Amino acid sequence: MSKRLIIAIDGPSGAGKSTLGRRLARALGLLYIDTGAMYRAVALAALAAGVELTDDEAVAEVARRASIKLEGDPDSLRVRLDGRDVSAEIRGEEVGRAASVVSAISDVRRELVRRQREMGEGDVGVVLDGRDIGTVVFPNADIKFFLTARPEERARRRFDEERTKAHEPSFDATLADINERDQRDATRDDSPLKIADDAVVIDTTEFTIDEVFQLMLQTVRERESQATDDSTDLNDSPNSSNDEAGGDANDRDDS
Ligand code: DC
Repeated sequence: MSKRLIIAIDGPSGAGKSTLGRRLARALGLLYIDTGAMYRAVALAALAAGVELTDDEAVAEVARRASIKLEGDPDSLRVRLDGRDVSAEIRGEEVGRAASVVSAISDVRRELVRRQREMGEGDVGVVLDGRDIGTVVFPNADIKFFLTARPEERARRRFDEERTKAHEPSFDATLADINERDQRDATRDDSPLKIADDAVVIDTTEFTIDEVFQLMLQTVRERESQATDDSTDLNDSPNSSNDEAGGDANDRDDS
């Protein structure tokens, strides 16, 4: 990999972001940052501290004090909250719901976005998955994907996943929960879930994970070779001006 790539993957829950983000990071040798896990960790910390989730200032203080570490390879990512491995605990239903609530608090977002930028600006390229990566956290990301799927399909995937765990959820309840969370994530005032203008949108409803993965990988490869061609053109052309270079960059952003 020639340069430090920043790849943003946004979209609603159940669209396949984390599975595909992990695979992409592994295939390209990049760091993988699950930003949803960070909101979940703040939610868990707030619940454990007995803080009212409606008390914005108290939750924001919990966020500022929390030590949240994402460790390990993309496939075996562990989440540590104040030194404790909470990887399994943050996946519970209650924490998921609480994460959706605390992620609407501006001061919580400000704190986590600051940390995400720091993590993403290290020496290695990164894949970040979330809701606001391409729009807010890294608006200049090299490649932005927006993954989506029909709510029924996203609910089916989550339902299948939940069924393999201990309890037996109902499909209707899962679908209602997905719809409620989508609604909250897409209508909050601060950084609502939305598609960046220059994102590659993939509706995964009718595709397998493998098919979507191949499509994403191909998009990354194309962008990389385009970037290499552009820089070779600029170096080769003695008459190339900044204006022309600016034009190339804009063309690339729009593609
Ligand atoms: O992707 P997830 O289900 O683990 O995310 C948990 C919650 O955090 C979800 O309600 C959306 C929110 N979130 C967010 O607002 N911004 C992000 N970058 C990532 C997640």
